[in-house]
Amino acid sequence: MIGPRSLATLALALGLSVASVRGDEPTVPPDALIIADFEGDDYAGWIATGDAFGPRPARGTLAGQMHVDGFLGLGLVNSFLGGDAAAGTLTSPPFEIRRKTINLLVGGGKFSGETCVDLLVDGRVVRSATGPNGRPGGSERLGWASWDVAEFAGKSATIRVVDARGGSWGHINVDHIVQSDRRLQPEPARRDLVVSSRYLHLPVKNGAAKRRLKLLVDGRTIREFEIELADGPPDFLAFADLAEFRGRPLVIEADPVPPGSTDLSMIAQAETPPDPEGLYRERLRPRFHFTSRRGWLNDPNGLVYHEGEYHLFYQHNPYGWDWGNMHWGHAVSPDLVRWTELPIAIYPRRFGDWAFSGSAVVDKGGLIAAFTSTGRGECIATSADRGRTWAEVPGNPILAHEGRDPKIIWHEPTKRWVMVVYDEAPGRKSIALHASPDLKSWTYLSRVDDFFECPDLFELPVDGDPARTRWVLHAADGLYVIGTFDGEEFRKESGKHRLWSGNFYAAQSFSDMPDGRRVQVGWARGVTFPGMPFNQQMTVPVELTLRTTPEGVRMFAEPVREVASLVRKTHRVPARGIVGTEPPMPGISVDAVAIRLEIEPGSATMSGLLVRGTRVAYDAKSREVRCGDVVAHLDPIDGRIALQILVDRGSIEVFGNGGRVALSVGVIPPDGERSLRLFAEGGTSRLRSLQVDELGAIWGR
Ligand code: FRU
Repeated sequence: MIGPRSLATLALALGLSVASVRGDEPTVPPDALIIADFEGDDYAGWIATGDAFGPRPARGTLAGQMHVDGFLGLGLVNSFLGGDAAAGTLTSPPFEIRRKTINLLVGGGKFSGETCVDLLVDGRVVRSATGPNGRPGGSERLGWASWDVAEFAGKSATIRVVDARGGSWGHINVDHIVQSDRRLQPEPARRDLVVSSRYLHLPVKNGAAKRRLKLLVDGRTIREFEIELADGPPDFLAFADLAEFRGRPLVIEADPVPPGSTDLSMIAQAETPPDPEGLYRERLRPRFHFTSRRGWLNDPNGLVYHEGEYHLFYQHNPYGWDWGNMHWGHAVSPDLVRWTELPIAIYPRRFGDWAFSGSAVVDKGGLIAAFTSTGRGECIATSADRGRTWAEVPGNPILAHEGRDPKIIWHEPTKRWVMVVYDEAPGRKSIALHASPDLKSWTYLSRVDDFFECPDLFELPVDGDPARTRWVLHAADGLYVIGTFDGEEFRKESGKHRLWSGNFYAAQSFSDMPDGRRVQVGWARGVTFPGMPFNQQMTVPVELTLRTTPEGVRMFAEPVREVASLVRKTHRVPARGIVGTEPPMPGISVDAVAIRLEIEPGSATMSGLLVRGTRVAYDAKSREVRCGDVVAHLDPIDGRIALQILVDRGSIEVFGNGGRVALSVGVIPPDGERSLRLFAEGGTSRLRSLQVDELGAIWGR
């Protein structure tokens, strides 16, 4: 057994003030008994297996590791030896439990059973702790964890540090393990109030420490999420909708906050979401691309038409500017372009069991959504009130597998539902197909290998001929293959083709369209809006078609015709030759515009437009359309290039020769630069036609 030693004595010997390691930590009580301090030249009787721990404690940060702090003295256990890939265990000699609490400093990965510290009594794991990090980013700081062990008083126990995981945060850091009657893990901060208004406003400071916040009503956790709570002037206010809890007592609990922090007291109640006056009028708010009122968005989900409304659900972090806390946000539109945001449709079942991407269909007059619950598998929720409220079906998950992103379609010839879903069966990345008569019980059909997340599968006529159709299998990266589908198996007839270039990702097409069009929306990944309360945008909805080209059948994308309903003013520029860079076009100030440009490149090597300083051009030498750094091959037709260019506050989208290629590019142009200029380099090109349509906003204000 390890002899008891007082931590305070040790701290004195090391010339340290224990309590000063982090101002907000409790002082170490005088009754502390040290189980291990990892200050010695070896593990002092602890047994290491594997290659993650080495023969002796680490001295701080290891090669290739982010800065490690929050440990005491000079040494600690740090299983990053050999990087994240290394694995092993480190087990203490037996010791007697003589205090009510075992406290330990722990950091690193947050994977229970894989990067953890276990307390074993009678050979069983009775307590366990992990580090705080579950995904890239985060911090190597160690913090106190405390186990209540009064029930094991007098028993012999051992402690085992486990690293059984590679990859991001596949390591664990541990230091000073001490027994005491006091808990050293800081208690959560708490605030009590009564829900007097619909919304809770939550101040966010981007980059602040992420805190875990819990809202409890009647002792039940009703919301739990991570948030970068502002402790001073916030970057923006996020909000939580508590309509259904009005009048009830509410407890707000947060990870320990430093003493003197004001962040819980800055949480306020209000009848409206934050800043109703400024909403949708923010400086960089896109005029006609969908963005969320607040927070982060990524993949479009559950695109479906139902009873006069198009539904757009989306991957959403309502409480922060970055990816996280995945919910299904929700908006509806009468026309695919003007959107009204609604309350969150699908909440994560609990913290960490996120609602990842999926789809929606109409069945028996109601809406059905299929989504990935990261803790369970593919799940179904139904709504009987036009998508306003959702309830999970009792049989969830309806499919448990390694994978995500179910897209459900109705297959008329076999009269059953088909799910295409990203599947990560060991060693392969593929799209699996399953079938169901009732959306509840599913049978595996087949798979298509070498495809990654967010699949979509749909049938399209070739050249508009309903007697000649083909199926398209499409995945997150925008690559697609053309083939046939008999309800069992997708048979490829082509290699992978690319329609979209640039930041287009995780697109999906609408189900149950009223007019048979195949309309697709993607996530314009990486379009960020500095200083704004929202982040990321959707691409413009496009109509997809299959057309015969000299290279074979290809998919084309063109903005849906409804975009034309936003036009407020049109400028037309007569045909002429272009030489050099022309002065800004008079009378045109670019904010949100749709441009149609037709040029004959002629002898020019590069010609096109400068849109608020960004080149949107045709490179006649390489036969490429270029917008910013994004390029796509395009051959002229009869010596001409036709470009449709959609410009908004965060993006430029370009559609070449009727949608043969599509480019999505994130651009935040300089504030004062609103010009549009024609240019030609290396020769003369000819402007055949140019039309600039100024577009109004989609937000109804
Ligand atoms: C694609 C994706 C999906 C997943 C979702 C999570 O962008 O990684 O595979 O469901 O985002 O937000």
